[in-house]
Amino acid sequence: MMRKLHQLTGIVPLGAFFFVHMFTNSKSMSGDKVFNDAVADIHHIPYLLFVEIFGIFLPLLFHSVYGIIISAEARPNALNYGYGRNWFYVFQRVTGVFLFFFLIFHILNFRFGAIPGLNTTAIAGNADLAFGIVAAEFQITWVFVLYVLGVTATAWHLAYGFFLFAVDWGILIGERAQKMALYACVGLAFFLSAVGINAMVAFNKKCGLLPSVLCEEAEKKGVVEPNGSRRF
Ligand code: HEM
Repeated sequence: MMRKLHQLTGIVPLGAFFFVHMFTNSKSMSGDKVFNDAVADIHHIPYLLFVEIFGIFLPLLFHSVYGIIISAEARPNALNYGYGRNWFYVFQRVTGVFLFFFLIFHILNFRFGAIPGLNTTAIAGNADLAFGIVAAEFQITWVFVLYVLGVTATAWHLAYGFFLFAVDWGILIGERAQKMALYACVGLAFFLSAVGINAMVAFNKKCGLLPSVLCEEAEKKGVVEPNGSRRF
């Protein structure tokens, strides 16, 4: 029962949150105004504090603590067999433990502005400063590298989590189906990592790793105001 709840919380709400979060972050590709407006929209969600507590923080706490309990109980046998899926499973625990610490750092860093020596302005309540704060943090090499690790670890943890969930809940039964699903999950992990890293790069280079013309093209379609300026 607790185990099922653990798997479920990993997918909804946490997995769903990650997709939405990467979508919002990717708005950095269109520059500071678009991104800050997206952050302001989030801040205007009704009952935001309750959504955060019951939709993010409590599920995260439960998922992390119970995940550590499971890790302590199960014995990995990757060293004995060297079988691919065992290594995946070991990696699932390693990324899980890393993410626990990364997320504490990340939430204190951006939401609260409370990591000494780094950003000291909370983004909560300061949506208009969000882009500038994140851009300045990502100019610090070790911070950038840490976030690349955070994004890729989350992408792998979630993608393989989907696979484990589908096998455990009896959705993926045949060996061939499991194999194909595993490939699909590896593909998803690469895709989510690429999207997350591109969003990060875009805080200091418009459109990120993509040619900037792709983002400019979209902006040309912005609404032209009566005075001739463009609204996006
Ligand atoms: C591309 C790199 C990332 C960027 C630019 C980024 C940006 C942000 C920002 C600006 C906030 C503060 C929002 C606010 O206070 O209004 C935030 C909060 C948060 N981020 Fe990220 N993030 C990134 C990666 C991640 C990853 C990999 C995870 C893992 C799931 C994650 C999980 C969270 C959580 C749980 C919060 C707290 C949400 C809340 O306070 O309601 N972030 N992020």
